[in-house]
Amino acid sequence: MSVVDAAVRALREGGLIHLPTETVYGLGASASDPEAVIKVFEAKGRPRFNPLIVHVGGMALAERIGIFDDRARALAAAFWPGSLTLVVPVRDTGLVCDLARAGLDSVALRMPDHKMALDILRGLGAGVVAPSANRSGRPSPTTQRDAFEETGAFVQASPDGGDCQVGVESTVVSLLGDVRYLRAGAVTRAQIEAVVGALAQDEAEGHRSPGRMALHYAPDAPVKINVENPSVGAAYLAFGPVEHDGLVIQLSATRDLHEAAANLFKALREADRFTPPVIEIAPIPEDGVGEAINDRIRRAAGFVG
Ligand code: TXA
Ligand code: MG
Repeated sequence: MSVVDAAVRALREGGLIHLPTETVYGLGASASDPEAVIKVFEAKGRPRFNPLIVHVGGMALAERIGIFDDRARALAAAFWPGSLTLVVPVRDTGLVCDLARAGLDSVALRMPDHKMALDILRGLGAGVVAPSANRSGRPSPTTQRDAFEETGAFVQASPDGGDCQVGVESTVVSLLGDVRYLRAGAVTRAQIEAVVGALAQDEAEGHRSPGRMALHYAPDAPVKINVENPSVGAAYLAFGPVEHDGLVIQLSATRDLHEAAANLFKALREADRFTPPVIEIAPIPEDGVGEAINDRIRRAAGFVG
């Protein structure tokens, strides 16, 4: 049996799988099956009030699950398959169980830009919930090996889809009322605005996307951000050339934000393996995918609500 067939079969049987995607590795379960979905929350130690993203292999299924208006259709047409999750009103609650939606009357949908993910989703022909495959609060896995280290004990299939090319989770945009940018990702605010016009002002976004708590994405060592001159003995995540008497891991030697995003979680894990007293991270510009990087490292450092 191919790895794709094995993954589809595991999902049909109510089991969990690792779902490789272009952003991060997911911990997948059939979205319509509450007994499977509950295992996802248990494996991750994830609070039940935090709803999951439902992954689909095609637009027809997306429109059976959720209600798409013109804005949602335009965003899907522009960015799917890709690193954008759309929150829309739910249409058929039978296709996505209450637990997956945390009881909300909305649903978060995404079509990943990853061949193996799409093969699995199309093979199943139904929605798959997939939060990042880490245990809750830890850095997201961007390789099959890291996914296996985090939650390998809980899955029936752990296909290797290669290293994730994007490296941070999808952008989450809500289409309930005004368009809102709930979670920064590789698809930037400017890219969304180019399709649907100006976004609603949103200072307290963290509170609108449930479960966006601080101390997320955190390695074991304490994390300090915006450090230009690393302290002696610190593990340093650099963004460009640096002199440091200690471990240096380059997020991007050429200061390329996409490369830095792709390397971020791997670098946090690698630094942690040296059990340093502290992990210090270079300042990262806030533009483009830099907003997503800064969001994740602020949370790794325990800031933001
Ligand atoms: O890149 C990704 O999105 C990865 C990969 C595996 O696809 N998945 C992922 O899933 O990050 P998850 O479940 O960890 O992220 C869900 C995010 C959370 O911030 C959650 O609060 C938000 O989406 N969300 C889900 N449903 C929502 C809803 N109905 N309303 C508002 N936010 C919602
Ligand atoms: Mg996550």
